[in-house]
Amino acid sequence: MTSIHDHPFRDLDPTTFHDLLRLRIDVFVVEQECAYAELDGRDTEPGTRHIWLDGTSGPVAYLRVLVEPDGSHRIGRVATLAGARGNGLAGVLLDHVHATTPGPLVLDAQTHLVPWYASLGYQRSGGEFLEDGIAHVPMAREPAVD
Ligand SMILES: CC(C)(COP(=O)(O)OP(=O)(O)OC[C@H]1O[C@@H](n2cnc3c(N)ncnc32)[C@H](O)[C@@H]1OP(=O)(O)O)[C@@H](O)C(=O)NCCC(=O)NCCS
Repeated sequence: MTSIHDHPFRDLDPTTFHDLLRLRIDVFVVEQECAYAELDGRDTEPGTRHIWLDGTSGPVAYLRVLVEPDGSHRIGRVATLAGARGNGLAGVLLDHVHATTPGPLVLDAQTHLVPWYASLGYQRSGGEFLEDGIAHVPMAREPAVD
């Protein structure tokens, strides 16, 4: 496996950002047949981290981490290309985030993935809601106590 890339927007060259967006759009817009604001303006925030793994032809697994106004960190856009799923790649990226991010982590899980996120230490923090027609559950993970 290649090494984990973890960069703010300012360190991404145009080709790399194009390839990351292509992965996100292929999964969330095309595969999930969902028209939504994929470019929401938060990719370029100074605190946002773009984290991914490369395959032989570019990025195959991706997520981003945002800094929320309350200081928590929000994981989003967790996606692995369809042909690369089931190999633990998203888990590798989440393990990296857990090891490198202080404070609580929050995310909105697609409901069918709640057991998977729970296996990684996340707990439900609210009720199910619809976002762009897809059912989600808010979840949070507290930092490990030393
Ligand atoms: C969710 C997703 C990111 C997991 O990526 P991955 O690299 O396959 O991750 P893993 O191999 O660690 O598998 C994680 C979970 O994905 C599911 N999964 C595993 N293999 C799968 C496959 N071949 N196809 C679809 N889902 C699969 C399982 O629920 C698995 O949990 P388990 O290992 O406890 O059974 C990926 O399936 C994806 O991109 N899905 C579409 C986008 C999406 O829904 N993102 C999450 C938004 S909250």
